[in-house]
Amino acid sequence: MFLWGTATASYQIEGAVDEDGREPSIWDTFSHEPGRIRDGHTGDVACDHYHRWPEDVALMAEAGLNAYRFSVAWPRVLPSGTVNPAGLGFYDRLVDALCEKGIVPVPTLFHWDLPQALEDEGGWLNRDTSRRFADYVAVVAERLSDRVKTWITLNEPFVHMVYGYGLGMHAPGRTLLLDALPVAHHQLLGHGLAVQALRASGAERVMISNNCTPVWPASDSPEDLAAAEAYDTLHNRLFNDPVLIGAYPDLTVYGRPEPDFVRTGDLETIAQPLDGLGINYYNPTRIARPGAEPDGLPFQFAAVTGYPTTAFGWPVVPDGLRELLESLRARYGTALPPIYITENGCSYDGIDDQERIAYLDGHIAAVRAARGVDVRGYFVWSLLDNFEWAEGYHQRFGLVHVDFETQKRTPKASYRWLKNLIAKQGPEI
Ligand code: NOJ
Repeated sequence: MFLWGTATASYQIEGAVDEDGREPSIWDTFSHEPGRIRDGHTGDVACDHYHRWPEDVALMAEAGLNAYRFSVAWPRVLPSGTVNPAGLGFYDRLVDALCEKGIVPVPTLFHWDLPQALEDEGGWLNRDTSRRFADYVAVVAERLSDRVKTWITLNEPFVHMVYGYGLGMHAPGRTLLLDALPVAHHQLLGHGLAVQALRASGAERVMISNNCTPVWPASDSPEDLAAAEAYDTLHNRLFNDPVLIGAYPDLTVYGRPEPDFVRTGDLETIAQPLDGLGINYYNPTRIARPGAEPDGLPFQFAAVTGYPTTAFGWPVVPDGLRELLESLRARYGTALPPIYITENGCSYDGIDDQERIAYLDGHIAAVRAARGVDVRGYFVWSLLDNFEWAEGYHQRFGLVHVDFETQKRTPKASYRWLKNLIAKQGPEI
C-alpha cells in the first residue's frame, strides 16, 4: 500500500508547552530569547494541536490520507528522566484515533525538541545523549508498539547539527561551526541504538528521515566540482553513508580525516538494517569554490536561478527530486532500502493556493519519473500552517490554513486537490 500522508512535528504544532507535566525543550528556551525568532514568535500555543487533535485527525480522514507522520515530544514523555504517563497518554489517544480512521501512524522520535535538561549536560555534543535517546525510544515503543509498526528515528540530523550547533540559527543556538561534527555522530549513534530498541519491541518498518539535496556545481571548473563534492559529502553522505553502508565518507577536506569521537563498534551500531530511507526534499543546492574571504569551509553557496520561488524564496525544481532519487540509487545500489518521501512541500500565502498545487503536482510526477527507485510513500509538509522555526508563523506550509488568532482551520485549494488525487489513485502512486 502506497502511503499518502502529511507530516508535522511536535514543537511546530502542539502548543500546551507546560501542560500535563511537559518540561522545557531547547526550543522553548531558544524561542524565548530575544532576537532569535522573527517577531519574537514562540511555539507556546502553535496550532494548539494538543487540544484540537481530534479536529486535525478528522481533516486527515476527510482528505482520504492513509498515513500521518507526527513527532513525539521527548520532554513530554521523559521530562526529567522519569516517565510521564500523561505525556505518553496524549500519543496513545492520538494513535488510537488514527487507527480507528485507518490512518497508519508514523511517529518520528526526535524532531529537534531535545529536553533542556539534556542540553544542560551538553546535548548532542555529549555521547551519553545517544544512550538516553534509546532509553526514551524504548519507553515510547513499549507503550505504542502494539499499534505502531512504522517508526522514524531522527528528523534531519544534518539540519539539527548545522543550524542548531554549527550556525546558531536554531536551538540550542550554538555557533561551533565544524566543531559541531560530534553532533552528527552522536545523533547517528542514537539512531542505531534506537533501531535496536524498536526491533526489540517488534517494529516492522524502521527508518530515518534525512534531508537530501542534489548538489549542482556552479561551473565545470575543477574548483567548483571539488567544492560541490565537498558539500555533497557534508549534506548528503555524512548522514546516508554510515546508516546505509556503515562507513563515514572521507572528511579530509574538512580537516577531519579520522574523527576522534568515533569508537570501535559505533559504525556497526549505526548501520542497523533499515526497512526504508525517509527523504525530505525541498530544492537543489548550487555550490561554488570557496570565496575570497576565508571562512574555513571548502565551498560557498551560489544562487539557483531561473526557477520560480516559493514565499520563502526557495527555488521550485521538481525534477531535482527525480535527480536526487536516481542519484541515491546509483550511489547505494542494492544497499538502498525502499524510499519514503517523508517531507515535501512549500510555503505560500493564501487559501486559493494554486502555486502549492503546481508544486505538489510537479514533485509527485518527479517521483513517478524516477527510474529504478522503489518509492513507497509521499508525505506533504504539512497538514497545517505551523511554527516554522526561526521564521515563526511567517511561512505557511499547510494544506490547511490556520488563523493563529482564532485557531480556525480552513482547508486550502491544495487540500481539495490532494483529496481528489488520492481518491483517483487509491493506495498507489
Ligand atoms: C524540514 C523540517 O523537518 C520541518 O520541521 C520544517 O518545517 C520544514 N522542513 C520546512 O522548512
